[in-house]
Amino acid sequence: MTLKVPRVIGHRGACAYAPENTLISLHTAADMGCKWVEVDVKLSKDFVPILMHDDTLDRTTGIQGAVKDYDFHELRDMDAGQWFGDSFINTKIPSLEEVMELILQRNLGINLEIKPCPGREHDTAEAMFDLLSQIWDDDARDRVLITSFSYIALETAMDIAPDWARGLLIDDDPDPNWADMAKYFAAQTIHFSAETATREFVEELMDFQSPLYAYTVNDPRTAQTFRQWGVDGFFTNTPDIIHDGLFKVN
Ligand code: G3P
Ligand code: MG
Repeated sequence: MTLKVPRVIGHRGACAYAPENTLISLHTAADMGCKWVEVDVKLSKDFVPILMHDDTLDRTTGIQGAVKDYDFHELRDMDAGQWFGDSFINTKIPSLEEVMELILQRNLGINLEIKPCPGREHDTAEAMFDLLSQIWDDDARDRVLITSFSYIALETAMDIAPDWARGLLIDDDPDPNWADMAKYFAAQTIHFSAETATREFVEELMDFQSPLYAYTVNDPRTAQTFRQWGVDGFFTNTPDIIHDGLFKVN
């Protein structure tokens, strides 16, 4: 199944403008013209897939402890918006099910980054596909791209759902065997960290001849430079700025 990933992907929604990994952040990205968004998928203690970036709750909810130690109904009682601003008070941590409903409703595509708490790599991928198999139509699979920094999670994804598109995430300290891993996982896209990438490394990535995406790029001049180097698209916290500054047409 061929994906049509656009040049601009809203990172954790449009997380410069609304609290990351929440429904309001995804709506904001869609309102700014994003056709695709990226989110981070974790598991509650009782195995409900939800959105959260950090392993711990403190930064975005003010609660002490790890995500994996709270049941879904407890996570739901937390406020995931107040840290960002008073106008976001009472924003909830969304379930992945709610997120996928929004994706359909807003006619978006989504990059599901499996972001397991340590030790839950397999379970997170498994619970995510359990849910997707129940709610997601096969015909709409070209709107979903699976990634993870965790090779265990990606391997689980490949075992459980071989036909769902996978991308390879490369971090700030690139695995020297990234190309072998990309082949092994049959990655359709390569995603690299803009923070540390040199032109030489980008050229090495381009030799692989898969669509190439940089995360996280909020400055249109940086995006322009990467475009000149041959990078296909960008994960961004500021989709409006990247849209307006770089791509008049997405
Ligand atoms: O998928 C791109 C990017 O989201 C990876 O880094 O830490 O923002 O999830 P992070
Ligand atoms: Mg992410």
